[in-house]
Amino acid sequence: MATEAKPFAKPLRIFATDHEGGWLKKGKEMKVGFIGLGRMGTGMAANLLKAGHGVTVYNRTSSKVEALVVQGAKAAAGVAGACRGDAVMTMLANDDAVESVVFGHSGVVASLRPGAVHVSSSTISVALSERLEAAHAKAGQRFVAAPVFGRPDAAASGQLVVVAAGAPDALRAGAPLLEAVGRSTFVVSETAQIANLVKLSGNFLFAAIIESLGEAIALVGKAGVDRRQYIDFLTSTLFDVPAYKIYGGLIADGKFEPAAFAAPLGYKDIRLALAAAENLLVPMPFASLLRDRFVALLAHGGDKLDWSAIGQLAARDASLGTDGTFHRIDADRQ
Ligand SMILES: NC(=O)c1ccc[n+]([C@@H]2O[C@H](COP(=O)([O-])OP(=O)(O)OC[C@H]3O[C@@H](n4cnc5c(N)ncnc54)[C@H](OP(=O)(O)O)[C@@H]3O)[C@@H](O)[C@H]2O)c1
Repeated sequence: MATEAKPFAKPLRIFATDHEGGWLKKGKEMKVGFIGLGRMGTGMAANLLKAGHGVTVYNRTSSKVEALVVQGAKAAAGVAGACRGDAVMTMLANDDAVESVVFGHSGVVASLRPGAVHVSSSTISVALSERLEAAHAKAGQRFVAAPVFGRPDAAASGQLVVVAAGAPDALRAGAPLLEAVGRSTFVVSETAQIANLVKLSGNFLFAAIIESLGEAIALVGKAGVDRRQYIDFLTSTLFDVPAYKIYGGLIADGKFEPAAFAAPLGYKDIRLALAAAENLLVPMPFASLLRDRFVALLAHGGDKLDWSAIGQLAARDASLGTDGTFHRIDADRQ
């Protein structure tokens, strides 16, 4: 347990590019490896190809590689094979996955040539990002933390919002890749892990929106208000923003499958936000509550659901079904 706050070395400094000629834009075609072809990585790798980069893909489950090969990617037999170019981009599930791919035998650090850049887009802990930056520096390589906002549809259409941090030369080296996967990039610091901290803070806010929407929808829903009409009213007046539209719609419709962002990954992000908060000695009581909501969701078998399914817990606690109908617990026992 942390006993003293550990401030970051560099102050937060945010500047943005819309990829229309900002300082990050270089437009250079690169030889890049892409590791992690899950819901997000598949679309991101496809957009690297569309931007004209030479892409070599690797995924633990090899069957997912085929769709990218059809689009022009080369397939690598292992991690090392995806690390032979100017850069490698990783989009993996969590800290364990990134650690095994980066630090493992014939992993990214062992395989990347000096001067090459690793762009890490997974949502990982602040602590691991710090370790990645140090390990790449020791190996003479460059590192950019570039976690993203946006769900798989945004990844597929190249509309992600990228939060990037790293040394300026590393950011410039990775810029053509960031340009290819997102609609805009926000550079938040020269210290890589601050990008991860900003990303975690954003997912904490999304989870807080989901929980509060779930409670409000349960409240009016139990009194007989149509849940869809209620969300349409909110999002056309007081809360005319994408997060409320997307998550309000999912909760009102009770549509949590197939998962675009799986509940275990959302749980991971709240825990990582709390770990960072503990390290900085920042109490986040609401984040602690959200962690418990994810524990409840997973305890009820929600591991295959979208993370927005925590938004149905308030209805369940109020004896309402996900369709808004009144649901007596004792009815289950008959
Ligand atoms: N989905 C979203 O809406 C969203 C949005 C923003 C950020 N993110 C973040 O982006 C990252 C990827 O999310 P996702 O939704 O694409 O997840 P996903 O669909 O579950 O894909 C996870 C990827 O990680 C790989 N992987 C998992 N464990 C591994 C291990 N031990 N060794 C090697 N590879 C491993 C998987 O390989 P296999 O195919 O072999 O399982 C797969 O390629 C996560 O950090 C997530 O928090 C997600």
